[in-house]
Amino acid sequence: MLAKVCSAANYGLKAIDIDVEVNVALKGFPGFGMVGMANKAVEEARERVRTAIANSDIEFPVAKITVNLAPADLPKEGSRYDLPIAVGILAATGIIKLPEEKSYFYGELSLDGGLRHTKGVFLLAVLAKEKGVKNVFVPRLCANEASVIEGINVYPVDSLKSLISHLENKKVIKALKVVKSEELMGDLKPEFDFCEIIGQEQAKRAMEIAATGGHNIFLMGPPGSGKTMLSRAMPGIMPDLTEKESLEVTKIFSITGNIPAGGSLIRKRSFRSPHHTTSMVGLIGGGSNPKPGEVSLAHRGVLFLDEFPEFGRGSLEALRQPLEDGKVTICRAAGTVTFPAEFVLVAAANPCPCGFMGDPKHECKCGIYQINRYQKKLSGPIMDRIDLHLNVPAVDVNKLMADKENIKREGSREIKKRVVAGRLVQNKRFESADGVFCNADMKNRHIRQFALMTTKANLLLKQAVNKYALSARTYFRLIKVSRTIADLAGSKNIEDVHVAEALQYRIRLHE
Ligand SMILES: Nc1ncnc2c1ncn2[C@@H]1O[C@H](COP(=O)(O)OP(=O)(O)O)[C@@H](O)[C@H]1O
Ligand SMILES: [Mg+2]
Ligand SMILES: [Zn+2]
Repeated sequence: MLAKVCSAANYGLKAIDIDVEVNVALKGFPGFGMVGMANKAVEEARERVRTAIANSDIEFPVAKITVNLAPADLPKEGSRYDLPIAVGILAATGIIKLPEEKSYFYGELSLDGGLRHTKGVFLLAVLAKEKGVKNVFVPRLCANEASVIEGINVYPVDSLKSLISHLENKKVIKALKVVKSEELMGDLKPEFDFCEIIGQEQAKRAMEIAATGGHNIFLMGPPGSGKTMLSRAMPGIMPDLTEKESLEVTKIFSITGNIPAGGSLIRKRSFRSPHHTTSMVGLIGGGSNPKPGEVSLAHRGVLFLDEFPEFGRGSLEALRQPLEDGKVTICRAAGTVTFPAEFVLVAAANPCPCGFMGDPKHECKCGIYQINRYQKKLSGPIMDRIDLHLNVPAVDVNKLMADKENIKREGSREIKKRVVAGRLVQNKRFESADGVFCNADMKNRHIRQFALMTTKANLLLKQAVNKYALSARTYFRLIKVSRTIADLAGSKNIEDVHVAEALQYRIRLHE
């Protein structure tokens, strides 16, 4: 007998219909063969399905079983076909009856017949909605991902056994209640609060400017000066994700298996801090069936590259496209895949290999050659795309110790209010400018149109350009940062005070 079960594969950030055809022939030599797939993980599905069925109090049929996943030319990987294959076998042998309405079955089985956390359930739900498929049967652990999509019945399945009872109408699984995505939106408590950071006023101010204008930022300072702390606090001062942004990020998190069990929509801005040894594919994305990398997991949030000079040349080169275009494009024989990757880059580094160059309390043990080599790594294509550069000296231990709990420091919430206001100004300004969302995105022509300076501001900038022999690139960068500072001040035009402040954020040790 033949049964056909519907499921889905993934390509890029899309789910695609897959038919799982199962034929069970009682005549012929018993066996369990699969066609239409290449990946080893699917081969392993055979063992899991066999054992899971046997452990669900059902005798595995002694018959010639053939499974076909169609269309055959689509890459199929992962363990999500376990459930549809098992359901197909049970339907083909007449043990269960498939629902009359089209239904998707999707999920990895464990040997005891339970359903495990499986990647991509959110994308499956999006496909179901698009195709008008009424029911989706998915592991309970990731069913909440699907429950934000309206108009479909999401059945959270604990085990093969419970699914069989449901399909036999013995013990019905209750479909999840739809949780509208707008109900999930709202004010979030910051995970790391700026009020916990003592001193570092200049760095905090620079983080605020970066968050407002979408500027990339570079922090240089000795170990323990609070670079990591400052960076972690950054997502908490950025505006809350909009519903649209949240759905974008959720897709990326779902397909990479980054939504924890029971989780649904991703509402927090990302903070990703890949180690400098992370592979290129891990960082940028890729693979034969391309998957998003860290830059896409940081989409709409913060990408923190600590020990920045330690990152390989190749990785840094590959960061150029996402930094410039806000996306990653991967070409494969099966087609081109694009993953969004719009993030604020926060790069951090020690001033020298030992970390203490310029520190009044510690001696730097590095040789001149070492220092030169190290600092050379700090130039190049990525540095050119960083608008704010600043030194983060360590806060004096005495100051840290003298700190009283009751001293009221400004918290992330207050800072965020200003950032949100500054973003609103930019949204309005760039309504008609294609592809520009914040000041950092401005190209030179936008700068001419949108970043008007007072005469005094102009003069100050000119003087600085001459005095410090600044490059044209630095000149435009300074205007962009000044624009954001002016926005934070609620000023229509850029004034000399704004330029003066922007000038503070371009100083680096080796310049
Ligand atoms: N300005 C500060 N305010 C409060 N704690 C600080 C500050 N600077 C450093 N610390 C403490 O030192 C630790 C190390 O800071 P960290 O951010 O990891 O430094 P870095 O990344 O620059 O090496 C923090 O966990 C924190 O406890
Ligand atoms: Mg650190
Ligand atoms: Zn040193």
